[in-house]
Amino acid sequence: MISTDQDLSKWLGQVHLGDCVEAMGQLPDSSVQLVFADPPFNIGYAYDEYDDRLESQQYIEWSAQWMSEVYRVLDASGAFWLAIGDEYAAELKVEAQKIGFKTRSWVVWYYTFGVHCTAKFTRSHAHLFHFIKDEKSFTYHPSEVAVPSARQLVYGDKRANPKGRSPDDTWILRPQDCVDGFTPDEDTWYFPRVAGTFKERAGFHGCQMPEQLLGRIVRSCSNPGDTVLDPFSGSSTTLTVAKKLGRQFFGFEMSQDYAKLGNERLHSCSVGDLLEGAAEPKASAPATSSKQARRLPTAPHNERGFDNLAKGLNLDDSHFPAIIEAFAKANRGYSVDRVVADPLLNEDFQLQCDRGAVAGTTAERNRMLFRVRKSGQLKASGIETSKRTAFSWEQLDPFLYASEIAWRRLSDLYPETSLDEILCDPRMAEQFDQYASAIAPGFLQLEYRWAALKLRKERHQVQKRMENASAKDLGLRKFKPKDAISIKKFKADKIEGGPGVYAIRAKDESAYLYVGESSDLQSRLALQLADSSRQGWLPGTPAAKSLEVCTLHLPTVSDARLARQGYLVKWYKPLWNCDF
Ligand SMILES: C[S@@+](CC[C@H](N)C(=O)[O-])C[C@H]1O[C@@H](n2cnc3c(N)ncnc32)[C@H](O)[C@@H]1O
Repeated sequence: MISTDQDLSKWLGQVHLGDCVEAMGQLPDSSVQLVFADPPFNIGYAYDEYDDRLESQQYIEWSAQWMSEVYRVLDASGAFWLAIGDEYAAELKVEAQKIGFKTRSWVVWYYTFGVHCTAKFTRSHAHLFHFIKDEKSFTYHPSEVAVPSARQLVYGDKRANPKGRSPDDTWILRPQDCVDGFTPDEDTWYFPRVAGTFKERAGFHGCQMPEQLLGRIVRSCSNPGDTVLDPFSGSSTTLTVAKKLGRQFFGFEMSQDYAKLGNERLHSCSVGDLLEGAAEPKASAPATSSKQARRLPTAPHNERGFDNLAKGLNLDDSHFPAIIEAFAKANRGYSVDRVVADPLLNEDFQLQCDRGAVAGTTAERNRMLFRVRKSGQLKASGIETSKRTAFSWEQLDPFLYASEIAWRRLSDLYPETSLDEILCDPRMAEQFDQYASAIAPGFLQLEYRWAALKLRKERHQVQKRMENASAKDLGLRKFKPKDAISIKKFKADKIEGGPGVYAIRAKDESAYLYVGESSDLQSRLALQLADSSRQGWLPGTPAAKSLEVCTLHLPTVSDARLARQGYLVKWYKPLWNCDF
């Protein structure tokens, strides 16, 4: 039963069994920073306890009652998010505004698995209102939820803001994996929102929200340490996400079973755990637990390679002159590497190949371009290729590690496949981009690819540098226990800046995931261990609680670039690095 204690700290960390109107009445004013409410929609859904068939006016009055309590307990700079169906969206928006809320966004949540209707348009959306109290001062962090812009994604345009842009107010949920579990009909359109085969399904509540949707709301509208309240907790999705993202949390639920199971779900996750599902629906889809899962070639978390890459298939040399001509028309003074790695230039090259009636697929033509270069015929043709693609190491630093990890993943997926072969084949190249952008979001495809090419080019130099300087010469030693700190406890602003090396490893040292060197450990680790970056780590990566990061500060940046990292790779054989 709900206690009448006024101390907020007594409420934190769990779902309380009881009626939310009565319970919120016992909370202090202005005591929570974010409320997410997904109330019953009054459409006759069969909850185990709640009767979802109130008379219309009664439902609106009850909604006004609980929303007034939300208004009272919400901090002046806080946010209230309301999920609601078509039936009462308009009415509840008006009621919320009467109470004093200001509407910041009206988000349409679009399901690509719209429900087939016979007598009207197929329904495929619900509503999410973002309300605030004070238009002059409210918590909102757009950078926490930025997505790559179309300029970046589609056009690879250098002028695009590398930090991405705010997401649209239409949010898309793709249910690629729900084919076997979900046969919607008009009466049930709204509740298989986390469809049956999605891995994250807690399995006991028909109305479970996707964790990533809540992730977007919690990240953008609260700060770490803030308190998040869900008055209609259901399967505890909001609270689970709040916990994982390091917020304080509590909720109410009138069903005994849901409250119990919700608390069990909460206990089974930890602060720092990754959210379930794919972070960016445009680029990916949730992993599925079904063995019959459909293959998703573009999903970054699809840990399978493509069959049928037809690596051996090469067009014969009679096509060389047409390839040279297409290259000359498309290259704009750039090298073969650039024309293959740059999506814009490559599109042009492929177009010129079409016009010149060059046979073969995109990948085959790209591979042939490399062969032409190797044959010396390109040089002999006198085509200008001296325009430089200039990315300095400093420019590459914020995502260099992501390119390296993506390259390593592709190499693991396609053994014996070179980086050139990866970049030649649009399917593999896209997979590479998606891995890299999941780990370090917001950069251009060309940038991720060029970083990998630059790393490859540096390899031979690194080997020479290691021959010329021992680890000791470079100030390096193996990590000691005192160098390690749990990733869960790690705070980048607590460590010193400046040059050094680091490792991400299992606490029991059974595996090293990644080792690196940086001219500024603080900024590198702030990026690489940021929650948004860890969303891109492979499924199956141990939870934050069983990982630690080792850091070793060094007095100077070494002239022998990457040689320190080279030694660490040699010693620890990490799973995510490329070999030097
Ligand atoms: C739409 S579901 C919430 C689903 C939730 N967002 C999730 O992801 O699992 C609404 C929940 O509110 C609960 N409920 C209904 N009336 C309530 C009340 N007055 N107080 C507390 N919980 C209530 C229902 O039992 C139901 O579990």
